[in-house]
Amino acid sequence: MSSSRRDFFKKLLGTGVVVAGLPPACAPNIDPAPVLDVPMPGTDGIVALVVQRYPDLSREGGALTLRFPRESGQENLLVVHPTADTYAVLSATCTHVGCPMGFDGQEAVCPCHLSKFDITTGKVTQEPATVPLKTYVCTYNAGTQVLSINILAGDAAFPAVDNDGKVTLTFAQFPDLQNAGGMVSGTPNGYGKRIYVFKLEDGTYSAVDSVCTHQGCEVGFDAGLDELLCPCHASIFSKTGVVEPGGAATVNLKTFTVTADATGVVVGIA
Ligand code: FES
Ligand code: FES
Repeated sequence: MSSSRRDFFKKLLGTGVVVAGLPPACAPNIDPAPVLDVPMPGTDGIVALVVQRYPDLSREGGALTLRFPRESGQENLLVVHPTADTYAVLSATCTHVGCPMGFDGQEAVCPCHLSKFDITTGKVTQEPATVPLKTYVCTYNAGTQVLSINILAGDAAFPAVDNDGKVTLTFAQFPDLQNAGGMVSGTPNGYGKRIYVFKLEDGTYSAVDSVCTHQGCEVGFDAGLDELLCPCHASIFSKTGVVEPGGAATVNLKTFTVTADATGVVVGIA
């Protein structure tokens, strides 16, 4: 990408420049949620919190940021407690330019430029952010006061990771994968993060992770660029996961093995 194209996207995303119409750069009453360091869960992907141990979370209107070991690649999670026995879990990183999120008792709020997000759907309710926050499945047991968060849950309509660590995408279900330039994206249950699968113009396939290697935001496919663009700090990656030079990220996206036959494509996740 030329520097002028990158500059354009930086301006669009508000990195390094003043974007007209943005609110002031700090909010007086919203702070990022307090941080709790947690280990990575086992193969079931369940993080279990005894809520009463954490006063910042147990009070109504409270919230915590769960921080996982850096080497795990797992993004931080914002856990919020709006009312009584109700909890919700979202990505803790704002999709505007990557600030850590806070909670105002009703919505997830970014202290940097006051973007707001619905805590149930992750949808933007107040710009400048335009990309939703990822949401996570959680259940609360009022008897044991245990909140269980499944970080490996996926889309119900997308194939899950099977016992061999593979995701099978049939052409019958995903006909776009038969066409050069075609793309399929979804979150496999058992992996918990979005993947992108491309049929490239030369007829080969690639499959890449959506976790940006800069600070873990979820990259999106930009049809205009025909590349993957990170909404947080404008890093750009090719459809084979190779990072464009000059951006915030310097490491390629994680890639997966792909095999194809007459019936579909198999992506090796494990
Ligand atoms: S980083 Fe700007 S609103 Fe969140
Ligand atoms: S998280 Fe910073 S560029 Fe993606």
